[in-house]
Amino acid sequence: MKAIVFDEPGDESVLRLGEAPTPALREGCVRIAARAAGVNRADLMQRQGLYPPPPGASKLLGLELAGEVIEVADDVQTWSPGDRVMALVSGGGYATEAVVHAGSVMRVPDRLSFAQAAALPEAMLTVYRNVFQLGALPRGGAALVHGGGSGIGTATIQLVKAWGATCIVTAGSAEKCGRCLELGADAAANYREDDFAQTVADATDGRGVDVVLDSIGGPYLEKNLASLAIDGRLVIIGLMGGARAEIPLGPMLVRRLRVIGSTLRALPDETKAEIVQGFLADFGEALESGTIGPVVDRVLPLGEAAAAHRVMKASDHFGKIVLEIA
Ligand SMILES: NC(=O)c1ccc[n+]([C@@H]2O[C@H](COP(=O)([O-])OP(=O)(O)OC[C@H]3O[C@@H](n4cnc5c(N)ncnc54)[C@H](OP(=O)(O)O)[C@@H]3O)[C@@H](O)[C@H]2O)c1
Repeated sequence: MKAIVFDEPGDESVLRLGEAPTPALREGCVRIAARAAGVNRADLMQRQGLYPPPPGASKLLGLELAGEVIEVADDVQTWSPGDRVMALVSGGGYATEAVVHAGSVMRVPDRLSFAQAAALPEAMLTVYRNVFQLGALPRGGAALVHGGGSGIGTATIQLVKAWGATCIVTAGSAEKCGRCLELGADAAANYREDDFAQTVADATDGRGVDVVLDSIGGPYLEKNLASLAIDGRLVIIGLMGGARAEIPLGPMLVRRLRVIGSTLRALPDETKAEIVQGFLADFGEALESGTIGPVVDRVLPLGEAAAAHRVMKASDHFGKIVLEIA
């Protein structure tokens, strides 16, 4: 099959459209003819040799895809050839075919193209897992997400608002802050100019947020904790700013704060299936009706994966970058 491959880790130029072995169908899985794949920040790290795939996962790049089911294992009853689906994978999205655990697959709403659908699984399910399952955001509560213009950020704004909660974001420019507000965010801090803890205090009448979804890490730790309400949860899903910081234990103890680390990729298939089922139970209707949906910055052909990575590295995008697979 065709796939984006690279011989050695490196910059974007190592990526090329080549051949990879077609994966064998396994128990509990379906084979999908991929028509589009979402690009994620983790793909850039994997390409650089900094984020190896978990044991047993495809070594190819790509954590999500959309396409058509073309083969189903004997023990799978939930899917049939011809179904239009989108799926979370622990690798192998940047290819013409993927073999995916049936529990990680979701039906594509009729109104969405494959390119739009491929922008959904990783961002929506990551936010669902971390803000709603681990962070337990209550209806009417408040959340802060960093990088409001990212795939994760645009998904967070939509899910938090659909949940009836307040969403505060950070972003690196007035333009991105404005687009986050248009998408539904209640307040936005330009992290290059504003103190986001102050923005949170202003937007919550000094109470703080119930959940912070953080992908920056070390440099934001203290202000993230300061932004939390009593009993608040800081869920760390990325370390774009650095991996070390000193934790002020005093306020943590007095205000009963919790810090949670979380990654989706290496979770067992059964846990991913529970996340998918939870997401569909809580947000399936909103997804069908279009209350929530993909925010696609641009769609590029699979062969232009290197260009897609360059756009993401420069943070020139708002929402998701998608690769279309001919
Ligand atoms: N643990 C997990 O399971 C999991 C799963 C999915 C994603 N993630 C993580 O979530 C993060 C977002 O992923 P993505 O694929 O959505 O990436 P993305 O679209 O490339 O987003 C990264 C965003 O971060 C913003 N940013 C950079 N520095 C910032 C700072 N100091 N403060 C606030 N925002 C900043 C960037 O835009 P501006 O600077 O222009 O605002 C950009 O919008 C990544 O760290 C990724 O690894 C983790």
